[in-house]
Order: sequence, then structure tokens, then C-alpha cells
Amino acid sequence: MCGIVAYIGNKDAYPILINGLKRLEYRGYDSAGVAMLNAKNELNVYKTKGKVSDLVSFASGKDVSGHIGIAHTRWATHGEPNDINAHPHLSRSGNLALIHNGIIENYLTIKKELENRGYKFKSSTDTEVLVNLIEDVQLTQKVDLFEATRIALNHVNGAYAIVLIEKGHPDTLIAARKGSPMVIGIGKDEFFIASDATPIVGMTSQVVYIENEEVVKVKLGEDLHIKTIDDVEMTPYIQELQLNLESIEKGGFDHFMLKEIYEQPTTVRDTMRGRLHADLGTVTLGGIFDYEKKLLNARNIIIVACGTSWHAALVGSYLIEVYAGIRVKVEYASEFRYREPVIFPDDVVIAISQSGETADTLAAIDIAKKKGATVLGICNVIGSSISRATDAGIYTHAGPEIGVASTKAFTAQVAVLTMMAIRLAELNGHLPKSKIMELIHELDLIPEKIQTTLERSAIVKDIANEMKDCHNAIYLGRLQNFPVALEGALKLKEISYIHAEGYPAAEMKHGPIALIDKDMPVIFIATNKSTYEKVVSNVQEVKARHGKIISVVTEGDVLVKEMSDYVIEIPDTECTYAPLLATIPLQLLAYYIAVLRGCNVDQPRNLAKSVTVE
Ligand code: G6P
Repeated sequence: MCGIVAYIGNKDAYPILINGLKRLEYRGYDSAGVAMLNAKNELNVYKTKGKVSDLVSFASGKDVSGHIGIAHTRWATHGEPNDINAHPHLSRSGNLALIHNGIIENYLTIKKELENRGYKFKSSTDTEVLVNLIEDVQLTQKVDLFEATRIALNHVNGAYAIVLIEKGHPDTLIAARKGSPMVIGIGKDEFFIASDATPIVGMTSQVVYIENEEVVKVKLGEDLHIKTIDDVEMTPYIQELQLNLESIEKGGFDHFMLKEIYEQPTTVRDTMRGRLHADLGTVTLGGIFDYEKKLLNARNIIIVACGTSWHAALVGSYLIEVYAGIRVKVEYASEFRYREPVIFPDDVVIAISQSGETADTLAAIDIAKKKGATVLGICNVIGSSISRATDAGIYTHAGPEIGVASTKAFTAQVAVLTMMAIRLAELNGHLPKSKIMELIHELDLIPEKIQTTLERSAIVKDIANEMKDCHNAIYLGRLQNFPVALEGALKLKEISYIHAEGYPAAEMKHGPIALIDKDMPVIFIATNKSTYEKVVSNVQEVKARHGKIISVVTEGDVLVKEMSDYVIEIPDTECTYAPLLATIPLQLLAYYIAVLRGCNVDQPRNLAKSVTVE
């Protein structure tokens, strides 16, 4: 989704802004723009459809001077991606420039009111309406920009992270947020503002995360001045930024996605570090230690999530049920929030989110909290909105995930959920101690087995070659491998634009089988021992219809291997751990197909890394 960068200080703003926008490219966008106030008090705005590199070409040779500026990558919501709708937007007088991430839901009503008073609009955006509303308040109520922004935001419904600059005020930026995230970096005689910390890494390690409905005056030579939109003064809480430059660079890989796939032996180990104690045969989850009783006694455990995190939730629900004998419901956050869900104060809602910023997941948390439930989070981004909105939680510690298609975050989420399931079983005694020891011992070996899986995945390139021109693909798995099928299909759709569906293998007979012919690749995840024979029958059904069979099997497999056109072997492991291994070759498969099709792997069309609007 949209990316925001702003700078004020003693350096040239433009290179800092462009570098910041490049670091935010991973969020997904379709136009970019920048505005700087130069020494002559001129506000230079350059914006264009396309990539940040297009913006740089467009601004080349033009006046990009100034020590204060704002910059934006736009992911179109209101109005198509074009030069006019790109941000920054100017107010009618040309005194204010505004960048915005989010959606102003009542913008049409405000627009009509302003039009009735003679305002004219050039773009179709809600953002141009907002900048004019702020200027209107400034002029009619004769207040400064800080106050005008605060008052104007009281008339606005929806989500926003905004930054404004004003002619005549080369030492001040005004920012505010609700829903959409925003962080301020505090340097020596300089400030940085951004949608997330990536543009700030290497500039300063002192940051302040702006809370919902807060407005901030960022003025050189002064401390941050923060107020709520209800006019309550707030004290900035300065934190130490935990990110380093290396973690947001490609490190020799062609794409961030490939780097992140290959990082998984390390990231899963990091997720388990200090939590899984193979020597003691126990699991400690410090983040939710005080909530373990609540989890065990919960009337319902409900997991809410979106996208890949939802797939991890499905794996988690399976594991918690099998290990601890506790029923878990999994909900799409976007559905949950509008369904008037039945929630009791003794329910525990677990929100899973890589970014910790997904708007629907945040809204689901809000509902659960209002109904009195305990809300736990499983997030990757430290300090993110979801991690702050929940009562307690567990960080996945997978490090920054830049590729839009989620990979290492998924395995980290599954690792957390696996530990949680084991811990619950440990506490309620649903599994014998010996089985728990076995599970813990095997989980400890998983990072090595992920490494082996990666090493054995050379065959995936041949399969990618075979599949690169197909129009459809079906992924089939049973039990905990059903979410793996969903995730494999999602990866393929997201980055190679091939239509793919994931199904529980036995459900194939109820529809998808009609699609099978010699051109249809069918990917079986056939590692389950308990349903192995059933899956063998499904493979035969596909073979009888001349479908191309690609299967992920456990090493040593004979039956499925014999029937398959291509086979990917994963190391033998505890059956329920298959998602931690079987997902890896499917990530690689989607990756290599996308590369062969010439797709933009890290920034697939229309997708955003962090979906901060509904
Ligand atoms: C977007 C991303 C997906 C992600 C989903 C949920 O659609 O492109 O990769 O799975 O959002 O995001 P979250 O950050 O909440 O896990």
C-alpha cells in the first residue's frame, strides 16, 4: 500500500526521499511523487505514474533543492493510477502539499461542501479533498496548520497517515495518523517520517511510533509536539529501532523473495530461539506466559488473519486440535469484522499478521476487545499496530520481509503455532510426556531439514520450465497439507499470474476434477501417513484423466513417486510438521515460474505488502 517518506533537517531532502521511496517499493504502488520547499519558498512538486525510477527521470534536470520535503508511492484506491492522482496534492492556494496513506470514507460529502463554496478539484482522490479541508479550516478559523489539521481530522471518517508541508514554514512538518501506520525518526538536527521504519534504517535509531488519532508537529530545534485530535497533549515515547541495513538488502540474491526463501533455516531457528528447549523437553512462550490459563480455559479460541497468515492459522488450528484437543476456529478477519460474531468475554482471539498493520485484522481485534475477549497477537513487525493493540503476543522474529509474496513469515508463524500447540498439550496433558518430548526433539531438527529441503530442490527448476506456460494449476493436500496446497496456489497466483486453486485432495471429485486434462498440472502434497492411501487414490484419479502429476513426497516414497511426472522429496519428519518443509519447494516453484514468465517477483502487479485499507 501507499508509502510515505518525509524529511526535514540540514541535508538535501531529495536524495533522502528518493532513497526512502525505493526502500518502500516493496509495499506495492503504481505512481510516485515528491514535493520540496526550496530556499526561495517555492514548492516544487513532481509526480508521475509508474515506478520511483520514472519519478527520478521525470525530476531530472529540474529544481529538487530544499532541506524539507515529502514523498509518496501511491497504491490506487480513489481514481486510476495516473500523474494527476499521484501524491503529493496541493491545496487551492498552493500553500500546502499533502501526502496520504489510507482512505477518507466521507470524502464525497466533504468534497460537495467544498465545491459549494467554490473549490475546484483536479484529481479524483480523497487526498485532494483532505488538503483543501485542512486549508479551509486554517483560513476560516484563523489557526496554524497544526491546529487546522487537528480540527479537520475531526470531520473525517476512515484511515489516514498524512504529512503536510507549508510554504513559509521551511522548519516544520505536520503529520497525523489513524489506522495507517507512521513512524518518526529523530536524528541530530533532523527528522524522518515514514510509513514503516525501512527508510529510516541507517539514518537514526531513535524512533517514535505515532498512535491512532495523534497529530504531530515536527519542528527543527524543538521536541516533537504531539496532540490527540481531541486536543489532549501527549508525551512522545522514544524507542530504539531494532532493524539493521543488511536485513533490508538483497544480499547477493536476484530478488528479495528468493533471499527470504533461503533465509528460512535461520528464521525458523530464530523464531524458536529461547522458546523451544530441546534439552529440557519444554517450550516457553514468554510473551503469552500470563495468558496460558486463559487459553486453556477459553470458551472458544478464534484465530483471525488474512492471506498467507490465514493459511498459517489453518495449520495452527489443526495442530492445536490434534496436540491439545482444543477446538479452534479460523476466520478471515475481513468476514469476522462484519458478521456480528458471537464472542464471549472468556474467548481468546489470536490475530496473526506479518506486517501487524492489516486493516481488517486490526478491525477484528477491535471488535473482539469491545466484546471483552482476550486478544493475543502473532506478528512479525516489532512495534506494529497489531502488536500494540493486542493484550499480549509472540513475535515471529523472521526479520523484515520485503518480497510481497510472504514466505519466511509463513514458516515462522507456523513455527510459533506449533510451539503454542505443544505448550498447550504440555499444560493440559492431552499428549503423553514421551510424545511431547518427541515433538520437541523433532521440531528442533526442522531448521536443518528446511536446509536439506532447499538443497534438494533443484528439480523445481525443471518443473517450473514445464509449468511456465500453463494457464491453470491445482494444488491438493489433506489435513495440515490442505493449507499448504492453498499457500502453494496463492504463491503461484500472486507472482506468476497463473490461475491456481488449492483444495483438500478428496474434494477434487466434487468439482475440480472436471478441469483435469493433459494440460492441467496437479500438485499433490502427499506426505501424510494417515491419509496416504487416500491420496494415492486421488493421484490415480488424476492420472486416469491424463493430468500432469507433480508431487511433494517424503523421502523413500514409492507409490506416489511411481505415478508422478515430477517428484520433490522432502526429509522425513513428524507428519504434522510437513507444512514447515513442503511449503518451501512450492515457494520456489512459484518463484522460478514467475522469473521464467518475466514477472516482477518482488512487486507483483496490483498487490500490496501491507494492506492498510479495507
Ligand atoms: C497482503 C500480502 C500477503 C499477506 C496478507 C496479510 O495481501 O500481500 O502476503 O499474507 O496481506 O498480511 P499480514 O501482514 O496481515 O500477514
